[in-house]
Amino acid sequence: MAVDTVLNIVELRDAVSRWKADGNKVAFIPTMGALHEGHLSLVRQAKSEGARVVVSIFVNPLQFGPTEDYARYPRTLKEDIQTLRTVDADLVFAPSAVEIYPEGFQTTIRNNTMSAGLCGKFRPGHFDGVLTVVAKLLNIVSPDVALFGKKDYQQLRLIQRMASDLAMVVEIRGCETIREPDGLAMSSRNRYMTAEEREQATLIYQGMSAAKASWVAGERSLESLRNSFADVISRCPRMVIQYAEIVSKYNLAAAGAKVADKDLVLIVAIIFGDVRLIDNLEF
Ligand code: PAJ
Repeated sequence: MAVDTVLNIVELRDAVSRWKADGNKVAFIPTMGALHEGHLSLVRQAKSEGARVVVSIFVNPLQFGPTEDYARYPRTLKEDIQTLRTVDADLVFAPSAVEIYPEGFQTTIRNNTMSAGLCGKFRPGHFDGVLTVVAKLLNIVSPDVALFGKKDYQQLRLIQRMASDLAMVVEIRGCETIREPDGLAMSSRNRYMTAEEREQATLIYQGMSAAKASWVAGERSLESLRNSFADVISRCPRMVIQYAEIVSKYNLAAAGAKVADKDLVLIVAIIFGDVRLIDNLEF
């Protein structure tokens, strides 16, 4: 059966209300499309819990900076809808930009702390755009649970913080990162790489794994741990580390110079030609 696709807020709300009236649990997975196994794993998880699953596909202009890849971001709606059929998603919400940002739109959500570091430092305004669209989508769908990938670790923590700070009635669930067989985290942006770059991109996971191995072996110097990662990345001179930081899993605060804390995560961003790749590994 085809997955129903709705384009506007009223129709989406109607469908969800009917499910709720019938006592169904509703799960929501926001995406920007160009779906891959990472997105589908979120749908599978929600389906396995017996929920009705709504997937949104919306390339959110508000979260792209003026020099970023909004225009070239892959838009593959037809294929995405086909793919969502195979995992039994119940409804696709694919609004236009004016449906979400009609004329006169003027309210945004801003995080004042956790958004400052890591990706936030290099993508000013990005997380305001993410939080604003996610808040709006959550208000539209009004799900019991919304699922997000740990792949976008800072995004996940910011959304959890927002839901808690604003007393939103929704569970924000973080799900494991899905990787290619060579360790590269799946991403809609992987398709920007040439075949050669794609092969070399495995170094990101190898580097993070080297840092983790060193942590597990007892290394606690932040500099040494970071060097374990950087040494591997340096095997490909075209790869530039934008940042590589070891932070608290929960509030993303930087670990001290001698890392004693537990519950840490290594979060990295790599610039590779004109592609920017992010990844992370929990210690
Ligand atoms: P997008 O990059 O399309 O990702 C949609 C969801 O899929 C996010 O929760 C993301 O973390 C998750 N995801 C992506 N790659 C994954 C992987 N390899 N393994 C597991 N989960 C993965 O993130 C966004 O869109 C946008 O910022 C959005 C939240 C939709 C707001 O516009």
